Amino acid sequence: MNPQTEIIDGLTQTAASISPKYFYDAAGSALFEQITRLPAYYPTRVERQIMTMHGADIAQRIGTGGTVIEPGAGNCEKARALCELVRPERFVALDISEDFLHQAVAGLRAALPGVRVSAVVADLTHAFVLPGDVPMPRRLVFYPGSSIGNFDPLHALALLTRLRALLDTDGALLIGVDMVKDEAALNAAYDDDQGVTAAFNRNVLNHVNRLIGSNFDTAQWKHRAFFNATASRIEMHLEACADIRVQWTGGERHFVRGERIHTENSYKYRADDFVALLRRAGLTQTQVWTNPANWFAMMLARP
Ligand code: AVI
Repeated sequence: MNPQTEIIDGLTQTAASISPKYFYDAAGSALFEQITRLPAYYPTRVERQIMTMHGADIAQRIGTGGTVIEPGAGNCEKARALCELVRPERFVALDISEDFLHQAVAGLRAALPGVRVSAVVADLTHAFVLPGDVPMPRRLVFYPGSSIGNFDPLHALALLTRLRALLDTDGALLIGVDMVKDEAALNAAYDDDQGVTAAFNRNVLNHVNRLIGSNFDTAQWKHRAFFNATASRIEMHLEACADIRVQWTGGERHFVRGERIHTENSYKYRADDFVALLRRAGLTQTQVWTNPANWFAMMLARP
């Protein structure tokens, strides 16, 4: 499905939705970077703490000189820290946001002159291929940041299975997973008091306007984020502040005041449940590192 068809399809369902992958235009990627620096948004900070505390141990288990592949590489900041630890020969960055990716990869090439760096524009919700010259032995797929949480469990399993398929028996996946925790901390992380997450959520409408020629006015939409304990996920929505008629090239939708567009889920796991999911994806041996409060986990999983 092309982006236009996918977006219009989501907007015209009874329960309207927009895929979270459309958050990441240039402005959205910059807002996400701001989110990662917010005191309330703990995942980036706690993941960094785990890597500071256990990075040497993790790197020793991975070994040097292999190939690191990072799906959803973003600004490549985490890859840079990992590459300093595991000194790979090759690094392959995959991301949906083309301009952002090329800029990030240029910075990485300058910072790691000994590493051959490639960039691949890829949408992780679909199958993707690596350049033919990426060596098969000793691949490490690095998927930090708990981005796996943005897929529902069935699609998470499908993605983990696709990542597993990139590996030979000597390969590994190093993945960041956000854990279930106190609801207040979860809600604060996704509805921060500085309004950055609200701006990030609303910005998806600007991106959609450009993609389908719609006339969303971001000022008419309220950011909503809350933990759904039954589904073990944070949900983000945009809620209509008034009755709104949105038009796009070839169509329209009326929203009544209070109606919502579902924009994101962010699943939170118990460690054992995620290890079981990895097993189902063919990654049977897993080591887990967490911070002392057990808020976040880094898992190194092998076939
Ligand atoms: C990219 N992803 C892991 C973030 C998350 O925490 O689910 C996206 C995000 N949405 C709101 N804040 C951050």
